[in-house]
Amino acid sequence: MLIKTPHKSQLNDFDVTNESIYQERRSLLKQMGFLGAGALMSSAMTKNANASFFGDDKIIFKTRPLEFSKDNENQGLIKTPEQKVISHNNFYEFGAKKNQPAELAQNFQVKPWQLRISGECDKPITLDYDDLTKLFPLEERIYRLRCVEAWSMVIPWIGFPLASLLKRVVPNSKAKYVAFETLYDPKQMPGQANRRLGGGIKYPYVEGLRFDEAMNPLTLMSVGLYGKTLPPQNGAPIRLVVPWKYGFKSIKSIVGIKLLERQPRTTWQKLAPREYGFYANVNPKHDHPRWSQASERRITSGGLFSRNRIDTLAFNGYGEQVADLYRGMDLSKYY
Ligand code: MTE
Repeated sequence: MLIKTPHKSQLNDFDVTNESIYQERRSLLKQMGFLGAGALMSSAMTKNANASFFGDDKIIFKTRPLEFSKDNENQGLIKTPEQKVISHNNFYEFGAKKNQPAELAQNFQVKPWQLRISGECDKPITLDYDDLTKLFPLEERIYRLRCVEAWSMVIPWIGFPLASLLKRVVPNSKAKYVAFETLYDPKQMPGQANRRLGGGIKYPYVEGLRFDEAMNPLTLMSVGLYGKTLPPQNGAPIRLVVPWKYGFKSIKSIVGIKLLERQPRTTWQKLAPREYGFYANVNPKHDHPRWSQASERRITSGGLFSRNRIDTLAFNGYGEQVADLYRGMDLSKYY
């Protein structure tokens, strides 16, 4: 496999786009002693989309087609090419650099898989791998994904509403929050075994939503993208997608969902509470302490010279569906 370390002038569009902000976010980790100075510049060039990374002789992870009903509402959105969606990732369990998850997750075993839904409910359940794609009808949802680092994509996810799953376990009246947990398996996830590679995060990666956010029809449990099962770097076999929140809320490779009475603490909130809040709603009026959130770079098919800088929308453009959830709340306090 060819790993190219380009000079700054040869960086591909991902690197250029994110460099300042990405470096800012990483400087926090660096200050904490977790990232080597040379880490940012290395960039492997992935080849074909879908199952075949790094040339045909190195095909490792296979995706498979899924059956789903089409998203009729959002067909007009210009999608980010699949190749970019599956090669420019944040998945710190497989390394803190954008190209590392696509490289280091290729041997990730998703079978067998168990997802346990428990806590404040009458009928806790454990789903296995086949349940994830068979228990509920699958739908396509073409959503914008806005990363806190000020880049964004448009991704055709396949999945089912989290609400369908939560209704199945019959939540009780104490269920006010929902906590999520990623697999903890340092043998498979090298970033969990090596603190430097994993960005200094204390694993497992955990996230949370308020119960009403979790029940909102937009909140998706995704099992696929671009018509096929998720590749590991995007969170196989099942991940959350919450399109009006910064991308870090959309936790990957989930093994546990727990209904709780109290608000859970989340991974980035624990790491830097002044910078990353529990709510993390996309908000162009509330800057990150170290960079502006007023605009973003949309990753499209363009190369280095198509910068695609666009204004960031409140709630990532989903205000009509979700603004009511936050009525009366000071969103600069509850960021
Ligand atoms: N989930 C886990 N377990 N670990 C992570 O590092 N990164 C988050 C989120 N989910 C992350 C995660 C961040 S910061 C973003 S922007 C999105 O995943 C990126 O999703 P994508 O790589 O599919 O675009």
